[in-house]
Amino acid sequence: MIISVLNQKGGVGKTTLAINIAACLANRGESVLLIDADKQGSASTWAGFREDTNFRVISLARENMARDAMKLALDYTHTVIDGPPHAEAIARSCIVASDLVLLPIEPSGLSTWASDLTVRQVREAQEIKETLKCGFVVSRKIGNTVIGREIRAMAADQGIPILKSDIEQRVGYAESLTMGRTIFEWSSGSPAAKEIENLTNELLELYEQENLPDSAEAQTAANG
Ligand SMILES: Nc1ncnc2c1ncn2[C@@H]1O[C@H](COP(=O)(O)OP(=O)(O)OP(=O)(O)O)[C@@H](O)[C@H]1O
Ligand SMILES: [Mg+2]
Repeated sequence: MIISVLNQKGGVGKTTLAINIAACLANRGESVLLIDADKQGSASTWAGFREDTNFRVISLARENMARDAMKLALDYTHTVIDGPPHAEAIARSCIVASDLVLLPIEPSGLSTWASDLTVRQVREAQEIKETLKCGFVVSRKIGNTVIGREIRAMAADQGIPILKSDIEQRVGYAESLTMGRTIFEWSSGSPAAKEIENLTNELLELYEQENLPDSAEAQTAANG
């Protein structure tokens, strides 16, 4: 599975999620590659704080990096790409390389997501590559912010479901990354670590969902 964590907005939690999803998969014994596709190099800087990781981190923040990313990914069970904070050529390249795009979105962004550039880029890509999957994850959620049922329904209608696993605003995410740790090393078994586990499970489920052709899908629906 190649999964990109993308949103043209800065600071929504892309790097936090990319590192911790990679760690979560690696902790399960899978071979995992984390590609840092952001010129700011936050994921690479994080890796530089450490002696080693149980997943590989490579910086590849170039336009047209899709081919190289896909080639590198052949040697790993899972590849996670940490995307840049803008919707330019690199982001498009990340989408091209991916089986699945994870779009972290803060609760405040939920009212306007339909006009987001990254969403439009993903939609364009889905027209060419029908198997491309995409989901929003509510990131940096504060307290018991409720995500309205209509918003969920609208997103699902438009082919970009809002995943069930929300990520809350928790100081442990910020602290662990600053200290060059994953959330699992920082506070194993914590609510934050469980959120990442749940999100990772949901991503694997979404990835494994069969891509039924329209007619087969309709047939399945008709058969209940
Ligand atoms: N769920 C969270 N709870 C608390 N702090 C968070 C959470 N997610 C991210 N942060 C903090 O917010 C800041 C931005 O997060 P992060 O770097 O992951 O976002 P980003 O989308 O990768 O940003 P950029 O667009 O600059 O690459 C960091 O200081 C990070 O520690
Ligand atoms: Mg980042």
